[in-house]
Order: sequence, then C-alpha cells, then structure tokens
Amino acid sequence: MTHARSDEGVAGGEDVLGAGVLERIPDGSDLLTAEDIVVRFHTKRGVVHAVEGVSIAIRAGEVLAVVGESGSGKTIFTRRVMGLISGGNGTEVHGTVTYDGTKLTELSGKELSKFWGAEIALILQDPMTSLNPVKRIGEQLTETIVLHKRVTKKEAQQRAVELLRSVGLSEPERRVRQYPHELSGGMRQRVTIAIALSCNPRLLLADEPTTALDVTVQAQILDLLADLQSRLRMAMLLVTHDLRVVRSRSDRIAVMYAGRIVETAPTPELFAEPKMPYTEALMNAVPPIAGPNHIRLQVIPGRPPDLVNPPTGCKFSPRCPYAQEKCLTEEPPLREAGSADHQYRCWYPVGSEEGLKAKARNVERGRSAAGTP
Ligand SMILES: Nc1ncnc2c1ncn2[C@@H]1O[C@H](COP(=O)(O)OP(=O)(O)OP(=O)(O)O)[C@@H](O)[C@H]1O
Ligand code: SF4
Ligand SMILES: [Mg+2]
Repeated sequence: MTHARSDEGVAGGEDVLGAGVLERIPDGSDLLTAEDIVVRFHTKRGVVHAVEGVSIAIRAGEVLAVVGESGSGKTIFTRRVMGLISGGNGTEVHGTVTYDGTKLTELSGKELSKFWGAEIALILQDPMTSLNPVKRIGEQLTETIVLHKRVTKKEAQQRAVELLRSVGLSEPERRVRQYPHELSGGMRQRVTIAIALSCNPRLLLADEPTTALDVTVQAQILDLLADLQSRLRMAMLLVTHDLRVVRSRSDRIAVMYAGRIVETAPTPELFAEPKMPYTEALMNAVPPIAGPNHIRLQVIPGRPPDLVNPPTGCKFSPRCPYAQEKCLTEEPPLREAGSADHQYRCWYPVGSEEGLKAKARNVERGRSAAGTP
C-alpha cells in the first residue's frame, strides 16, 4: 500500500520516532485486555445501557478496529478503557482493564495518569477538542514531552520540531510558533498525532480520528497512522463507523451493536465470511470504493435501539432480515465460528443452513428486507 503524504503544508518526514520502542514490545501476547466492561448512565429517562459486557484483547503490534453505527457504545467503551470514565455521579461501571499485567481499573486517577501518554495515548475525532486554542503548537508538544521524559526544555523543543517533521508537516520550525487556528484541520490532526506519539506509547487509541476532516485528508491521515503504527510496531485500537476504512488498515475487527460486541474476527475472515446479519448489513451499507459514483448508499433499514429500553432477545431483531421467534425472546451468546478468533452472536448466522432457511421463511411470510413482520 502506498501512503499519500501531501495535504496543504505537509512534507515527507524523516524517521525520528520510535528509537528504543522495538525492544520494549513484548512477544505477541495480549497487551491490553478488557473483560466484561459495563458502563451504564442513570438518567431521569432511565438507565442508558451504553456498554454491556464487552470483552476484547489488543495484542502487541496489531490494529484492532472497533466498528459500529452511531450510538453503539464505541466512544464510551474506549474512554472507559482509557480510564476517562469512572463510577459515581449516576455512572455505573463494571469490569476489568489490564494493561501489560497491571489492572488499570484498580488504580487511582493519579496512578493511572502515569500510563497516559507514556504507554497509552488517545486521539480524538476533533483535533480542536484535544488542542489548547490559546497555546502555541510547540508549547503543547514540549509540555507532554517534559511531563513524561527526563529531558531539558531545550531537548524537548528540538524533539517537538522533529516530531512535527515525522508526521509530515512542512516547515516544522515555523509550525511550533503557530496557534492551532492557523493550521488546517488535517494539519491540526497531524499535530495531535505528534503529541500522542511524543512519548512512544505502546498502544494508541484512535476514536474516529478522521471524521471531522474532508475525504482526501481523511485517507492521508489514516495512511499516516498506518505507516506510523507499522514503523513503531505500536498496537492500535481504531474506532470507526465505516467498515471501508478498516478493511486494508486492521488486523482484526470487533463489530459493536447496542453496547455489545456482536462479531469479532480477523479482518480478511470477517469480510469473506461474516456470520452476524448486522455485519453483513454494515458491509452492504457501504458502496464499493472503486464503484461508480451513482451507487446509492444503502443504509441499514430501521433505527439503532433505544439503549434505555433495548429489545429483549437479540438487540438487532427489529431490523434483521433473518429474525425468527426465538430471536425476539432469547439473546444469543457469543459463540465460535471455527476458532476462538472468530466469534459472533446469532441464532441463524449468515451463510449457514439455518440462516438461509430463516431468511427464506421471512421472504415467504412477506417480511420486508428490513425484517419488519
Ligand atoms: N453522559 C451520558 N449520559 C447518558 N447517555 C450517554 C452519555 N454519554 C453517552 N451516552 C449514550 O451512550 C450511548 C453510546 O454512546 P457512544 O458515544 O459511545 O456512541 P458511539 O458508538 O461512539 O457513537 P458515534 O459513532 O456517534 O460516536 C449513546 O446512546 C449515547 O447517547
Ligand atoms: S437472526 Fe436472530 S439472532 Fe441472528 S442477528 Fe438476526 S435477530 Fe439476531
Ligand atoms: Mg463515538
């Protein structure tokens, strides 16, 4: 894959990142595991079941993509993993997050903050929310570097310039003196990536890092992230609602729906043999990348569930073209499709005999493709 590197104010950069990173990467074992993560918001309207029992493992050096429609719980899950959401004040949390042997969920805010930046870094959707509008770019970078590394201010300033160059920003010596509003959206996101990578984290959590950007810049930023991730052999959790984005940029995919993982598999396997009808629907919801422009974007019929009163049984049942009586009353557990790496939640999986029969029965009964009886 070639990585485009040419939006406004962007130049090719030399490799100043990652010195000393490779030896810190352990063998292919799990770097971070999240077990049975639950986040509920107690509101006047009722309890919002934002994340319900999500378990995943991110392995050293891999890209794990978390994909799902808006409101499926991706951000809340990511923020809980990062320790940015804790219990109290109407928020209920359960489950364990373990990073390289340390239970992050048992640490105090102060202890946890030692991991932020130095081990685990976060990139958000809108760079303006992570950049301070009244501080120069250089100052924001050096602050993070000095906080986590034993270097002088002068060394940190030099490193700031090198970092900006390594994320492809031209004239880094001038950029360090500029304020965020003086840069384009793409350039600002490159700055947040530079800040995130400034302490050589082993894990990068990127929550929809490009949705605030226009399409060409989106691809450039994603390619930059992919390039940095493979160069630094950093693990990355890449959150997106767009399956197309992660097809060539992830090793594994976890599909989220209504606060749950509904399918997880190695990326090629997920695209070749999706089991969960929601995964299939997400795939059909995006046009082929090289397809003609007039192809209509097929949205998934129906609405995502209300997380205060989700449907009993399978949460996708009101929208599922395969749904049968059992789906309305019994929630399917995660089960394996051949290996522990491919798991899905469905009674009548795509491509199976029972799935084919279920879909045919619905067609016979005159159900619409949306699964509405
Ligand atoms: N503080 C809160 N109080 C109540 N409900 C909340 C709160 N924060 C998030 N939610 C709800 O939790 C659910 C999951 O939200 P989340 O932001 O994780 O979705 P998402 O998958 O990241 O969506 P998007 O793709 O739009 O970013 C949503 O229904 C949201 O409305
Ligand atoms: S077939 Fe049933 S269990 Fe499977 S996704 Fe559809 S509604 Fe859910
Ligand atoms: Mg989100």
